[in-house]
Amino acid sequence: MRRLEQKRTIITGAAHGIGRGLALRFAQEGAAVGVFDISAANCAQVVAEIVALGGQAISLEADLTQPAQVNGAVSRFAEHFGPPNILVNNAGVMANGPVHLTSAETFDRVIGVNLRGAFLASAAVLPYMLEARAGSIVQMASVTGMMGAQGMAAYSTAKGGLLALTRAMAIDYAPYGIRVNSVSPGTIDSPMLQAWVAAQSDPHQTRRAFDAVYPIGRIGTIDEVVSVFVFLASDEASFVTGANYVVDGGLSVKADQPQD
Ligand SMILES: NC(=O)c1ccc[n+]([C@@H]2O[C@H](COP(=O)([O-])OP(=O)(O)OC[C@H]3O[C@@H](n4cnc5c(N)ncnc54)[C@H](O)[C@@H]3O)[C@@H](O)[C@H]2O)c1
Repeated sequence: MRRLEQKRTIITGAAHGIGRGLALRFAQEGAAVGVFDISAANCAQVVAEIVALGGQAISLEADLTQPAQVNGAVSRFAEHFGPPNILVNNAGVMANGPVHLTSAETFDRVIGVNLRGAFLASAAVLPYMLEARAGSIVQMASVTGMMGAQGMAAYSTAKGGLLALTRAMAIDYAPYGIRVNSVSPGTIDSPMLQAWVAAQSDPHQTRRAFDAVYPIGRIGTIDEVVSVFVFLASDEASFVTGANYVVDGGLSVKADQPQD
């Protein structure tokens, strides 16, 4: 028995990186998948990959910062597959810099996709879930939203806001059978990270330095994050709401060793 049979799932940012991994695995677990992303070409590619695996998917090309586009994409999904019963708010953009080196435009862009985008997609999907009195929403947060992360002011703020939004939504919608949880990964071996590492002066040393920070001795894989999303989205997590699942190889519980 597949774990997401009969589930109709919208995944934002599903056309690349971790989102692509989520889309492929959710489809393999039996879900019909709406591949929601701003990149039409990448959406089409992921839909084709899912269909080639024998799964069901449609492309939902839309900009998560535009409410009319978000509502339109969710309506298209509902017309095609029926009312969504899972939403994965995965889309995100990164920006580096402390506050005094972050422009207002950059701050707005990062909040706009990571946090406001999750709010807009949730608002578009919730009427269907309220009608069905069932649903599961899983947010892609980050350990940077839980801890002080150097030079990541806008991104950390957005992810911290997402954790607060998760708690607020969990309380508001629990009486209606709708669960809302978040996942906070540490550094994940994604195409974005690989490209960044490759561009450094000593890529091997940069990669070793990343791995060394993690108590488990390495950064995480896309599959390791996706597994936790499958659990939280599925009925196996029927008593889990308002939770934040940390997937960081022990990073956030590590105390610095005293220097002798
Ligand atoms: N890679 C990591 O190490 C890591 C760690 C913790 C959390 N995360 C989070 O995981 C999520 C995915 O990260 P990733 O590394 O796969 O990034 P990625 O850049 O590979 O994928 C992000 C996707 O979001 C889409 N997107 C961006 N803006 C959009 C918009 N306005 N409307 C619709 N789609 C939009 C992009 O087109 C892209 O396909 C992000 O929320 C990120 O913050 C990543």
